[in-house]
Amino acid sequence: MPTTVKIVEVGLRDGLQNERQIIPMEVKLSLLHRLEKSGLQVIELTGFVHPLWVPQLADAEKMLAAHKPKDGIHYPVLVPNQTGMERALAAGATEIALFTAASEAFNQKNINCSIEESLQRFVPVMEMARKHKMRVRGYVSTVLGCPIQGEVPLSAVVEVSERLHQLGCDEISLGDTIGVGTPLQAKQMLAAVAGSIPIKQLAVHFHDTRGQALANILACLELGVATVDSSVAGLGGCPYAPGATGNVATEDVAYMLAGMGIKTGVNLDALVAAGRFISGALGRSNGSAVGRAWG
Ligand code: HMG
Ligand code: MG
Repeated sequence: MPTTVKIVEVGLRDGLQNERQIIPMEVKLSLLHRLEKSGLQVIELTGFVHPLWVPQLADAEKMLAAHKPKDGIHYPVLVPNQTGMERALAAGATEIALFTAASEAFNQKNINCSIEESLQRFVPVMEMARKHKMRVRGYVSTVLGCPIQGEVPLSAVVEVSERLHQLGCDEISLGDTIGVGTPLQAKQMLAAVAGSIPIKQLAVHFHDTRGQALANILACLELGVATVDSSVAGLGGCPYAPGATGNVATEDVAYMLAGMGIKTGVNLDALVAAGRFISGALGRSNGSAVGRAWG
């Protein structure tokens, strides 16, 4: 078990990308400020994806222009290709997250190209990132199952992760995009990837569609993983993964880790307040059990 875990808050990107109603910039910024105050060290801000594919993130440039980064917090942005990277650089992004999948069918639907094509697209993006001394995270989606093709071979998860690592990604986040996996599968998947990539460079990213996310995280902590992605109030889902719900709620992860004596640097009162704020602003029930029960 690690003694400290880095939580990567993805609510502003993975969380909000799935919302149909266009959320005003002041609401996004207000959520961001609350997340910053909660002690989170990594907050994924937005994505430079195609504005017609994900209209909710069409304000990515405005988001970066309006935001004043705080010392000690990392703010990666999602980038799918060179055009996205050019936009991210022009907007002043300092860290990026690339994304591809272990499933061909999902990749076609999500980013309109094959796995191999996506990896080729990342070559010039990585060169630009290196030139600008940017930290790069690489996501692998559908590591425990695909909404279209169903089963995803473990060998594909390992191979795509290795390719991202060879390209120079500093961290690889393993995504159960549709929240279909269970703890032993999650552990076996992580162990297989950790066979060729140091565990300290791996992160886990569980959607909680079937209520398995905390159990999956616990199983992966037992292997020593020390980076966990989550979304405040359990917001989210992928618009190109039908039926998938939000990420595991950050409040629930922070609560579980605190109870296990694992440090995250997060203040739960402030985090719960952030989750309640965004749930209220979106007019929906809070997706965090801790957020509902707190206080
Ligand atoms: P495409 O249509 O195949 O792009 O989209 P293209 O290269 O053929 O170009 C077509 C037009 O789009 C061109 O313009 C490009 O300039 C423009 P035209 O010449 O016709 O005027 N274009 C862009 N414009 C703005 N920003 C860009 C961009 N790229 C091309 N970046 C693309 C390919 C990847 C852009 C598209 O499929 C896309 O944006 N997909 C995003 C899907 C998405 O955001 N999904 C959710 C995020 S992934 C996720 O949630 C999973 C994760 O959380 C982990 C997990 O849970 O597993 C990360
Ligand atoms: Mg996701």
